Amino acid sequence: MNQALDPALLQAATGAAPAMDAYWMPFTANRQFKKAPRLLTRAEGMHYWDDQGRQVLDAVAGLWCVNAGHARPRIVKAIQQQAAEMDFAPPFQMAHPKAFELAERLAAIAPAGLNRVFFSNSGSEAVETALKIALAYQRVRGEASRTRLIGRERGYHGVNFGSISVGGIVGNRKMFGAMIAGVDHIRHTHDPARNAFSVGQPLHGADAADDLERLVALHDASNIAAVIVEPVAGSTGVLIPPQGYLQRLREICTRHGILLIFDEVITGFGRTGSPFAAQTFGVVPDLITCAKGLTNGAVPMGAVLVRQDIHDAFMTGPEHLIEFAHGYTYSAHPLACAAGIATLDTYAEEGLLTRAAGLAQGFAQAVHSLRGEPNVIDVRNIGLVAGIELAPLPGEPARRAFGVFLDCLAQGVMVRTTGDTVALSPPLIIEPAQITQIVETLRGALRRAA
Ligand SMILES: Cc1ncc(COP(=O)(O)O)c(C=O)c1O
Repeated sequence: MNQALDPALLQAATGAAPAMDAYWMPFTANRQFKKAPRLLTRAEGMHYWDDQGRQVLDAVAGLWCVNAGHARPRIVKAIQQQAAEMDFAPPFQMAHPKAFELAERLAAIAPAGLNRVFFSNSGSEAVETALKIALAYQRVRGEASRTRLIGRERGYHGVNFGSISVGGIVGNRKMFGAMIAGVDHIRHTHDPARNAFSVGQPLHGADAADDLERLVALHDASNIAAVIVEPVAGSTGVLIPPQGYLQRLREICTRHGILLIFDEVITGFGRTGSPFAAQTFGVVPDLITCAKGLTNGAVPMGAVLVRQDIHDAFMTGPEHLIEFAHGYTYSAHPLACAAGIATLDTYAEEGLLTRAAGLAQGFAQAVHSLRGEPNVIDVRNIGLVAGIELAPLPGEPARRAFGVFLDCLAQGVMVRTTGDTVALSPPLIIEPAQITQIVETLRGALRRAA
């Protein structure tokens, strides 16, 4: 090809907008986006800057992941140094020191007992890994008939086949055939008739956990390996667990020998006011999946935190044999480990893993002040996460909220919408004045959308 005509080179030389045909964007209305692109080009602290140089306040920590704010110097430096020192080390039958260091650091902040760590590259892969650990564990402990996996309606666990099978969002499932076999779902906890506008954990609905007893009665516990739930369901619209619900789920799982997996891909790393939501709610699961805030979103990485005796059950048989036939080329990637360690250092130095607890009350007051604004039918919150649910436009679900998102962006605040819920999950470094800016921008957009 004549290089002078190469569109990519031309674009680089002129600074013109890039050609947009080739990139098939994930979870995006591609045609709509490409008609009116929204491009971010720089980020620092609480802010992005777009391709026009406009500053945008980040009310969602990127995508629920940049918990310490953007471009934190310690994390940037750690990634740069690691890239120069050692770009890659094979994780199968070899290792590098930072993988061990990060695993120890994670074990130290995890709920007591969950002190073994398996690394992946995303939340979806962490979920896939946790489901495989659960199935394999039941087998190695002599309960091989326990092959069923239980998810929850409206759950989001990522997009791989295991994730969508246990997930409960129909739009993410309906195109993909039968998915994996032997999966069932307990009912979701959303009960607006009784719980709308609850501040923090809703009062009603602990009994939704009893739905697991229905599935035990249907399948028999001897056939069920594990239950997976998000302690706070994020992507389905921020559903806060009713008081006592997670405790009850824990009790039922324990009674029936079923493993309980908390998917903390969103709630992990300080979102609810503790390192993990398990600690906020005082319920210890058997496995925790995490990702996102693990590296402050700077390098892709996920992890499964595992109860020690589950790990130890695999450590039998001849020592020269691989105990668990699973792993990714990029498990414990050096850049991700360097970013993860620097992220945990940043969280520790600035007290970020518990900072949300101190800000939660002011944040709750601010978001609940939106009650009474046009079309607001519910407000839900815990720690530094909130969902503001809007009445859908008749026959056009999700459209009203998306319009509000576009309006907020035009006013310099990036929120996120899922269905007709506006979700807020700002970086944990947020200052009260910025909470006010987010909520007042949203209020204006709601009024204009009325
Ligand atoms: C609870 C939960 N689990 C899993 C995932 C999937 O993570 P990833 O997109 O990194 O695969 C997400 C992503 O938002 C999530 O919220």
